[in-house]
Amino acid sequence: MTVMSSLSVGLHRGVSYTERAMRAIVIEAFGDEPKLANLPTRELGPNDLRVRISASSVNGFDLSVIDGTVRTWMEYELPVTLGRDFAGVVEETGARVSRYGPGDEVFGCFFPMTLRDGTWAEHLVVPEDMFVARKPRSLGPLEAATLPLAGIAALKTTDIVDAQEDDLVLVVGATGGVGGYALQLLRARGARVVATGTPEDETRLLSLGAESTIDFTSTDVVSFVRDHWKGLRGLIDTVNGAATVAQLAALMEEGSRIATTTGAADIDALARRGIVAGNIFATAEPELLERLARHADDGDIKPPIDRVYPLGQASEAVAHFRAGTHGKVAISIAPGGGN
Ligand SMILES: NC(=O)c1ccc[n+]([C@@H]2O[C@H](COP(=O)([O-])OP(=O)(O)OC[C@H]3O[C@@H](n4cnc5c(N)ncnc54)[C@H](OP(=O)(O)O)[C@@H]3O)[C@@H](O)[C@H]2O)c1
Repeated sequence: MTVMSSLSVGLHRGVSYTERAMRAIVIEAFGDEPKLANLPTRELGPNDLRVRISASSVNGFDLSVIDGTVRTWMEYELPVTLGRDFAGVVEETGARVSRYGPGDEVFGCFFPMTLRDGTWAEHLVVPEDMFVARKPRSLGPLEAATLPLAGIAALKTTDIVDAQEDDLVLVVGATGGVGGYALQLLRARGARVVATGTPEDETRLLSLGAESTIDFTSTDVVSFVRDHWKGLRGLIDTVNGAATVAQLAALMEEGSRIATTTGAADIDALARRGIVAGNIFATAEPELLERLARHADDGDIKPPIDRVYPLGQASEAVAHFRAGTHGKVAISIAPGGGN
């Protein structure tokens, strides 16, 4: 059960707060168990929107924040409110906001330079020209909230792999958030997809459009690909380190393309073999969110929701994610956060 903390006003220097309180999930130190706390909401700047958050989701990034590995590459100010993804409704707009008005349904990925505010909270103040776009019309708030970070990472990997009709692409990590969206985006391009997954995931992965699955829990994926899947044109890997990505790349011909979310591709070495590779870094420009929304509304991607937790059970949502992912873990925040 998540504990309600007594954190109160005046949390961060240089930030103005209103009198209004909200519930949020925070860590006061890296390595801490996430806690439910009452926090003040931020003042609105002239270019800001105040979003009443309906729902969010869990990403690998949230674990990096909780465990503190994020310290090595990001600025932060504790306490940190967890969560990056959000879907919600604009409640209030700053004096200079022109694109949105109260009542607009939005979604996004809140990724500012300094880690401090987050989306496992009832409210978010976000600039109108960054991290936010209109929610896909065809998705409810809960589904939309599972799309931003994993979807943007998937979009960037599929852009690099640039699969054409009938190209054969291996997705390692297809059982997770990024891999599940990448699989669907590849299918929308007409590619043939081989996906890693457990036997438990097989039916779901085939229904998302995979041609076949490889059980990574009982099979050596590199040997299996060598023996059964000649002619790989693309690889999207959200799991492996440099050594395994290099072994998979060794099975691919000149002209193939590789993308990872783990920094594992040796881009220069692969370029010398005529293989285009990229290690993506997800960002949250409105244009990327708008592309994702179009894919959702066109029916190219359907959020693969595994389980939904209420905000007060965010710790349980994190434990569920850590125990193994089979799609996305969502967090319902406002009444009606569900679909
Ligand atoms: N660079 C960026 O900007 C960026 C953006 C988004 C995500 N990421 C990173 O990308 C990774 C994936 O993110 P995600 O949100 O999709 O995480 P996720 O939901 O945990 O997906 C990873 C999936 O891969 C499975 N898996 C574990 N070991 C495997 C193996 N040896 N072979 C094949 N599949 C295996 C996992 O199964 P189990 O859960 O059962 O182990 C899980 O279903 C994370 O490391 C995340 O931090 C990076």
